[in-house]
Amino acid sequence: MFVDTHAHLTDERFKGEEKEILEKCRTANVLKIITSGVDYDSSQKALEFAQNYDEVYASIGMYPENIYEFDKQIENIFAQMAQNKKVVAIGEIGLQYTDNMPPREKQKEIFLKQLELAYELKLPIVIHCRDAYGDMIDLLKRNKNLLKYSGTFHCYGGSKEIAKESLKLGFYISVGGVSTFKNASNLKETIKSLPLENLILETDCPYLAPDPFRGRRNDPSLIPIIAKNLAQLKDVSIEEIEEKTTQNARRLFNL
Ligand code: NI
Repeated sequence: MFVDTHAHLTDERFKGEEKEILEKCRTANVLKIITSGVDYDSSQKALEFAQNYDEVYASIGMYPENIYEFDKQIENIFAQMAQNKKVVAIGEIGLQYTDNMPPREKQKEIFLKQLELAYELKLPIVIHCRDAYGDMIDLLKRNKNLLKYSGTFHCYGGSKEIAKESLKLGFYISVGGVSTFKNASNLKETIKSLPLENLILETDCPYLAPDPFRGRRNDPSLIPIIAKNLAQLKDVSIEEIEEKTTQNARRLFNL
């Protein structure tokens, strides 16, 4: 059995096809899926979706672009929602230092608030990080006391060094479709250097479909393609990838 640890099943690109997609996942042996929110609305929808389907779990949180929505009221609502057993993580939360994003200090402040919330709720975090790996690892190191329930770097795109430092903090690295791209040689080298004990699988669907489906709509039934590629990178069997990544996902998210 495979686990897709990060999907956006409530995306409008799946609308009306949810049942078919989950059926496809069953056929592909992808039997647990964590669907993620990026703001208040999508977090609510993620939890609703998870309540409707046994194999689906929810991650709730405020993504860097949407942090102005995050206030005490939302924090309380998230805390309430997290009382539901189907909520298995806080995320995606993080830092993104690209154009037209909120100021860096504000991003850090809201990330930290959500990290604290996750700690209080005894939940792992799912980190979204773009062009901000240095600051992210510094923030995590300075707040080690809040990392007891660990977390993962979703769609990891940082260096080998930062990946190693993340593992020292007890974090996981999520391997997705980008790892199958022909031009992803740095990422492939990084993944080769990491122990299987810290790797989990994800699609981030509907985005980032693996090769040879790059550019098309992604869905969790493509996890075995990512797993097969990972098996080649790590020079082990796909069965071993299946077993280890599923064990890791279960441990991290308490599935
Ligand atoms: Ni995502």
